[in-house]
Amino acid sequence: MLRSNKELWWALFAWVLIGGIYALVMFMAGKIPAASELFGHSLGILGFVLMMLTEVLYSLRKRSRFTTWGKMSSWLQFHIFTGLVGPFMIFLHTSWKFNGLAGVVTLMTLIVTLSGIIGRYIYTRIPRTVDGIEIGTPLGEAQATVLANTRRVMAIWHTIHIPLGMALFTAAFYHIGAALYYATFLK
Ligand code: HEM
Ligand code: HEM
Repeated sequence: MLRSNKELWWALFAWVLIGGIYALVMFMAGKIPAASELFGHSLGILGFVLMMLTEVLYSLRKRSRFTTWGKMSSWLQFHIFTGLVGPFMIFLHTSWKFNGLAGVVTLMTLIVTLSGIIGRYIYTRIPRTVDGIEIGTPLGEAQATVLANTRRVMAIWHTIHIPLGMALFTAAFYHIGAALYYATFLK
């Protein structure tokens, strides 16, 4: 169970910090940092690493039968933190141009992040242990029906959020390959 929303505060803090550095670099250079130059490129790489961690770590911990390292709720909080900060860095990386495939990948990043926010909301409606295991509720019949419906919505949400994430990474790898080839190695 997510018992606090401190990961949201940490993400907000990181957004302000990274946004501040971005504004400073922009002010000093007198232009929007380009995606292929040092600062913009670093934002792309770091943001993408955070997104990869978001995609992989929580799922690994959730499915591992051998690892009991760390509470599931802490892993989910880390998932949410990196899932908010990574895409934020990617948006700053884009230099606010959304042409072609890279533009589509950006849109997919936005959709996966927004769907994550909705998922977090539904997730917290279902009572769980700190290890994320759903627990029954001794409440009345009406409330049990609400809970059953919420679980169904969460299951549907999973079937949207997970394939979207996979499609996003597939498209992102094409963008990275093409961008590195044309904008970095050919120069
Ligand atoms: C989900 C991850 C990413 C998204 C959504 C994304 C999105 C974008 C966008 C929208 C642009 C601007 C395209 C334009 O000028 O019209 C761009 C440019 C670029 N990106 Fe990414 N990017 C991502 C990750 C990366 C990573 C990890 C790298 C490097 C390893 C990278 C390297 C580049 C380069 C070199 C350019 C400049 C291309 C040029 O000047 O023609 N991107 N990216
Ligand atoms: C780069 C962005 C993101 C990616 C690639 C991503 C990917 C994933 C994946 C693959 C899962 C399935 C885990 C599993 O069952 O194995 C998942 C679950 C989840 N994600 Fe994300 N996510 C992202 C961002 C977010 C954000 C921003 C939030 C919340 C603000 C969020 C909240 C959740 C929640 C609540 C679950 C369900 C946990 C569960 O049922 O055990 N995600 N995400």
